[in-house]
Amino acid sequence: MKFIGRIADGSTETTARLILLKDLERSISTEELVIIKNGGDEKPINQILGVLREGLGKNEFLSYTAYRPDVAYMRHGGEPSGAREVYSFMIKPIGVVTENGIEPNKIIIQPRSPVYLQEEDDRPLEKIAKGNEILWMNAHLENHKTWKVPVLKNFISYHVGVYGSTGSGKSWFTRYVLIPLYITAGYRVLILDWSGTDYVPYFQDSNEVEVTKITDVAFDEESILSYFQDKTYDFSRNESVKDGFDEFIEGWIEKVRAVVNLSKGSKDPADVLYNQLKEHVEESINSITRADWRSSAQRAARRVFRRLKPRDLAPIMGTLSIEELLKMFESKRILLVDMGGTIAEAKLGFFLSLAKQLYSVMESGNDINIALIIDESPQYAPWEPRGIQGETSEMIKNLAALGRKRMLNLTLIAQGIKGEIGINASVRRNLNTHFFGRIHPLDASGEGGALEWLSPYGITADQMLQLKPGRFYFSGAMNPSPVPLLITYEPPGEENE
Ligand SMILES: Nc1ncnc2c1ncn2[C@@H]1O[C@H](COP(=O)(O)OP(=O)(O)OP(=O)(O)O)[C@@H](O)[C@H]1O
Ligand SMILES: [Mg+2]
Repeated sequence: MKFIGRIADGSTETTARLILLKDLERSISTEELVIIKNGGDEKPINQILGVLREGLGKNEFLSYTAYRPDVAYMRHGGEPSGAREVYSFMIKPIGVVTENGIEPNKIIIQPRSPVYLQEEDDRPLEKIAKGNEILWMNAHLENHKTWKVPVLKNFISYHVGVYGSTGSGKSWFTRYVLIPLYITAGYRVLILDWSGTDYVPYFQDSNEVEVTKITDVAFDEESILSYFQDKTYDFSRNESVKDGFDEFIEGWIEKVRAVVNLSKGSKDPADVLYNQLKEHVEESINSITRADWRSSAQRAARRVFRRLKPRDLAPIMGTLSIEELLKMFESKRILLVDMGGTIAEAKLGFFLSLAKQLYSVMESGNDINIALIIDESPQYAPWEPRGIQGETSEMIKNLAALGRKRMLNLTLIAQGIKGEIGINASVRRNLNTHFFGRIHPLDASGEGGALEWLSPYGITADQMLQLKPGRFYFSGAMNPSPVPLLITYEPPGEENE
């Protein structure tokens, strides 16, 4: 602990400014942790742990709005005096340090109180962790490699958002920090890799991870209907065409298995299935008795089949059931679904099937101990959901609500927080822990943006826009510190840099 300055005029119980001792402005930086011995060294009323924010340098003689002797001197080439310069930081109190951990401070912070910098051996994060059921993340406070970051274990199932513009390090952070944390907490981890490029290349050779391709997985029948609905512009808005599809979809997996067996090697099974589907729909329409209804349905069906191609069936011809997929958790702790190589509707259809299965397990009263990692989450729950996204957004919301009590963690990763690049507001409201990386300027301000969470703690838009890759402000339920903290991590293999 090192004495670095004293509290300035105008302090309250929740905020205070620190005036630095001479020359310390050169070495002390924002985000450092300090202890205020409130009331003096002799008999402090309490000891408050706080974080430095909002640095300020003042030299009244160099006011840029008034002409003063010092300014005149400087303008003629002289070096103005620094004798009356004042450097200060705002201190945001994290809490009073007590035997049982951190308590909110309710006593006015006295001006003149001495302030001490927390050094490596002081281990301030252990003070924050005390008295709680804690796990330690494989991440540390910026500039302090030995200060691992504590996490409140019980809030993991209150869901997590990871935000940052492209290249800010979200996927890496999830891979190296969050997934290991969830595993330590006793969760099994189910990762949905939207493009098959963020996680698959890093995990495919690990023998702790089971990698499954989305095209091998069977969808439930409702999701298949939604998929066709999306692909055919709602069956060209014709109920009879929709009925025709619906009838054919009944027993879908058996039909797929049959054509796969039948056409072994010789024909493309998607072609065979497509022809069966088309025949079925046409037959069902031709049996409509009223002539005008029949001909309008025939027109709609022609439009539908002009649009729908045999290759569109390929993504929904998997036969691995969701139950079988989830069974793989019996032997592996991490399941990774490679969602690359198929279209968005198919990915969302798969997600619906998977989510329904998880939901029904939880609904029947079972804890599931699963962390579901949804990278590129605005694909599933965008600002303005369209088509099948309406269902996936609703589903995520429901999973989040039920999951809190059933040990399901949702980790949603997105480039933005709100608006067009962000996550649907009703889903976002269910996320209680946030990791904010470098943000897009669009997210800087306004309702629901990062700054709404961070500016009360003295974090500014300028800082958010300039964060280096792999730096995140950790805020919300999982953080035992009520004040967000800037954390980072070492990607493996770069320890010596
Ligand atoms: N802790 C770190 N320290 C140094 N560099 C890092 C760190 N974390 C990530 N990076 C760098 O940032 C790059 C981008 O990381 P990542 O792919 O996780 O970004 P992303 O936020 O997921 O981007 P996108 O939105 O495009 O998916 C990495 O390739 C790596 O070089
Ligand atoms: Mg990514």
